[in-house]
Amino acid sequence: MPNKRICVIGAGASGIVCVKECLDIGFAVVCYEKVDYIGGLWRYHESDTDGIPSVTRATIINSSKEMSAYSDYPPPKDLPNYCHNSQLVRYFDEYAEKHNVKRYVKLLHEVISVGQTQDHLLTGRWKVTVKDNSNGETTDEIFDGVMVCTGHHVKPFIPTFPGQEKFKGRIIHTHSYKRPNGFEDKNIVVVGIGNSGGDAAVELSAVAKNCYLSTRRGSWILFRVGPFGLPFDMMYLRRIVFALFSLVPYSLSCATTERFLNQRFDHRLYGLEPEHRVWSQHPMVNDALPNRILSGTVIVKGDIVTFTENGVIFEGDNEEIPTDIVVLATGYEVSFPFLDKSIIHPKGNEVPLFKYMFNPNLQHPETLAFISLAQPVGPLVPIGELQARWFCQLMVGNGKLPSKDDMLLDIKKKREDMEKRYYAGPRHTMQVDWVPFMDEIASQFGARPNLCKYFFTDPALWLQLFFGPTVPYHFRLDGPGKWDGAREAIMTVGDRTEKALSTRPSKVKEDRSFSKRVTGILAELAILLHVAYTGIKYGVYSVATGVVIFLLYRYITSVLSKDR
Ligand SMILES: Cc1cc2nc3c(=O)[nH]c(=O)nc-3n(C[C@H](O)[C@H](O)[C@H](O)COP(=O)(O)OP(=O)(O)OC[C@H]3O[C@@H](n4cnc5c(N)ncnc54)[C@H](O)[C@@H]3O)c2cc1C
Ligand SMILES: NC(=O)c1ccc[n+]([C@@H]2O[C@H](COP(=O)([O-])OP(=O)(O)OC[C@H]3O[C@@H](n4cnc5c(N)ncnc54)[C@H](OP(=O)(O)O)[C@@H]3O)[C@@H](O)[C@H]2O)c1
Repeated sequence: MPNKRICVIGAGASGIVCVKECLDIGFAVVCYEKVDYIGGLWRYHESDTDGIPSVTRATIINSSKEMSAYSDYPPPKDLPNYCHNSQLVRYFDEYAEKHNVKRYVKLLHEVISVGQTQDHLLTGRWKVTVKDNSNGETTDEIFDGVMVCTGHHVKPFIPTFPGQEKFKGRIIHTHSYKRPNGFEDKNIVVVGIGNSGGDAAVELSAVAKNCYLSTRRGSWILFRVGPFGLPFDMMYLRRIVFALFSLVPYSLSCATTERFLNQRFDHRLYGLEPEHRVWSQHPMVNDALPNRILSGTVIVKGDIVTFTENGVIFEGDNEEIPTDIVVLATGYEVSFPFLDKSIIHPKGNEVPLFKYMFNPNLQHPETLAFISLAQPVGPLVPIGELQARWFCQLMVGNGKLPSKDDMLLDIKKKREDMEKRYYAGPRHTMQVDWVPFMDEIASQFGARPNLCKYFFTDPALWLQLFFGPTVPYHFRLDGPGKWDGAREAIMTVGDRTEKALSTRPSKVKEDRSFSKRVTGILAELAILLHVAYTGIKYGVYSVATGVVIFLLYRYITSVLSKDR
């Protein structure tokens, strides 16, 4: 059994899985959690305390349950695909219960500093100072490794606007927004069009007198309800999609997605069209927002030019808009108050860490890991889980980090790629694409699924791995920590997705009639002709290429509709 002592800081969704992974390896693990519960921001609470985040009363996850799951713990069949925060936290509780995690968590224990021990150069150890929040006593403990799981949606970013000091109304941040009580019949301005801004505007618009959504650059809006009514993230978080996107120019993959989104509603018509491309921003997911804009209960506005005593003036307007409450949905600042600035100093949310985990400048970088410190286009928790597994392998001596120079080069490359693709700002400093980043972390310790092997040994599984949704169970097929149930979990994703929706038995027989099939074939023929015609007209490709594209399209759609 490996003789290592590991400290996990924070018992949110990431801390829980770190404890479990340490236990699986056989480490002596202690998890410190400053509040008196596990589950982190997903455990809703009414009180608004600085540094203690929680979702709002109504928050629904925006990454689907199958994509957001722990990789060896598929969610229950009847859990809704986009579940309420109380259901998600129950799933976390059940996982923690199954692995006896709570036994290793010291609740009401806040880590106030983490520093190198005197013999750090030799041993790589850390001194962790902990305050018992029940009596104020502090103690020092020595650990071989530290996993920082304190979250990065904790410290609100609060900008100031011209004239704000004159304003007589209330200004709050979404960090403090819990539910719409007290907002009835008020004139409300929500600032910022990230997911917090979208959720707040939709919810408040149901009770407000007027609800304005202020955005300085607009946004593309993605949906939870995807094609066939299935979870949208399960449609695009697939290896085939990333393979196709990597083959075509970036502008083409953006244009295809934007066209698809504009078919749902025209972003220009709704005042939301931004100058940037769809994949150049952290995705905003909201099915209800276009509906609220269409019904006039949310009014889209530009940036706030100035506050007045009783309202605000928006860019492009000359008149004051009477305002009672301004809700700043302006995001968060990454912060680690218990760590010295020489270890991490996230200015403007920049985190120059190798794979967003390790500081290459440390003598023993593998001994201090930041977990879930990334902003994926997809779910966050499975990334944290994979990072935890990698950290454990490194601590046990299975594998090594690259040289300092190689790590710095990787960090530089990631920053340059990000700068090329995303518009600049503190919102886009740790963006990762879900499928490639999961593969990247998994390949560090042999957990990336071997697609070549499965192509020959298990074609049915290979089809799912390549064409199906890249669910976290993919990363339990191979390598350390492989799980015997992974194949079954992958093959039954569709069942669990559909079961949650099968709440009323249909009396209508599935229509496989000749006439319906013929209609389908004719529709596809029309697409084929259109593809061929466009190809010839614009000389982009030959008819043969058009046919190949069509057949590929046909094949993919048939696989997608089968594995839903
Ligand atoms: C409103 C909202 C909705 C989101 N929706 C999604 C979603 O749908 N899908 C998704 O994948 N992600 C979502 N996210 C991202 C979210 O951050 C992750 O889902 C997840 O909560 C991250 O878990 P965590 O454990 O890393 O952090 P947290 O949940 O923030 O937990 C951190 C824990 O560390 C503790 N802690 C902090 N400092 C200390 C200290 N010094 N000592 C001891 N304990 C400490 C805290 O008390 C807390 O319990 C959302 C974020 C927000 C804000
Ligand atoms: N239902 C859900 O699952 C859910 C709900 C809420 C949040 N979340 C998650 O929580 C995380 C944080 O989301 P968030 O929406 O709170 O933050 P965010 O994604 O950082 O968005 C912040 C928004 O505020 C704007 N903003 C920042 N500073 C501004 C300024 N000075 N003036 C005007 N606008 C300003 C930003 O505009 P620019 O882009 O122009 O900078 C952006 O539109 C994300 O990962 C998100 O997905 C999920």
